[in-house]
Amino acid sequence: MTPFPPARILAIETSCDETACAIVENGRALLASTVASQMELHARFGGVYPEVASRQHVLSIVPVVEQTLAQANITLNDVDAIAVTRGPGLAGSLVVGMNMAKGLALGLNLPIVGVNHLEGHIYSAWVYQADEAVPPEPQFPLMALLVSGGHTELNLMTDHLTYKRLGSTLDDAAGEAFDKVARLLDLPYPGGPSIQKVAERGDPARFKFPRARLDSPYDFSFSGLKTAVLYTVTDLKKKSKYLPVEDIAASFQAAVVETLFEKTMQAAREFGAKEILVAGGVSANRALREAFQSQTEFKVNIPALSLCTDNAAMIAAAGYYRYALGHISGMEMDVQPAWVLSD
Ligand code: KG4
Ligand code: ZN
Repeated sequence: MTPFPPARILAIETSCDETACAIVENGRALLASTVASQMELHARFGGVYPEVASRQHVLSIVPVVEQTLAQANITLNDVDAIAVTRGPGLAGSLVVGMNMAKGLALGLNLPIVGVNHLEGHIYSAWVYQADEAVPPEPQFPLMALLVSGGHTELNLMTDHLTYKRLGSTLDDAAGEAFDKVARLLDLPYPGGPSIQKVAERGDPARFKFPRARLDSPYDFSFSGLKTAVLYTVTDLKKKSKYLPVEDIAASFQAAVVETLFEKTMQAAREFGAKEILVAGGVSANRALREAFQSQTEFKVNIPALSLCTDNAAMIAAAGYYRYALGHISGMEMDVQPAWVLSD
């Protein structure tokens, strides 16, 4: 039983290139979720083009909210609070979601809650479909590995909404490394799923790419790995027309997965975590999921595949706990494009 009051949250997420809305009950039961992806629009640029993203949000936001209400089979009068991603993300994209959320809150006279996008990723791990059996509640302290396109960090979570950041990336985020290496290999955007796909036919032991050794054990660095892949590609291209893309992708993926897995396990041991949580776009990666799921030392919680990449269900989930614990934002709330989770 949840110690928190019952509430139905409608959330909006427009931090990057997905226009998303969702309705979640009591922080976990998902009634409806809509994600309008702009992936095809940005694929031709090889990455997200901010100006194009914000203009597309303007076009998509109203239909996405209407579709979500229809899917949940409720009206706006059945909603108790509005949650919205406040940051981190692209300023021009965040503003569109923020204004829509403020408009709804103002028009319906409802409280509005600003949510950190990374906190949303964490809470995605406890969301379940409303017609499914209820999975277990989180056990604190837990070790949360956040791996997305913009962030890679390890956070010790000691209670709801309480985080201590142990380390983060010194250069590229894990997802960013996947995207950049995919570009080196002429694989389509977004790079993560493309690398995973070709890596499945490759030999992960063919190339021994470096694993960064850092003074701070819980920080990450992927730029050296990316450069090593670049040198290997340049070298191989000089020798032959044929590039073993599958083996390079598999060896690169193995290096990233090993680093993320080993550091998380070490941190979980050191801080006496009761469980491990892995979230963010890169948590969709099959090799990473398998690495965590095949160990037996810690209970592991990874979101459903549909909730790994950006969505609004995660914002509604985190927004519920903020709402329930009295963290209500005001109409004067601004977006925070570089909002650190542990602030
Ligand atoms: O969380 P997310 O959707 O957006 C941000 O908050 O950044 O993460 C997107 C990132 C991209 O870099 C994408 O390449 C990566 O997640 N990603 C993956 C996979 N699916 C998405 N990386 C590795 N394997 C995947 N299957
Ligand atoms: Zn994200």
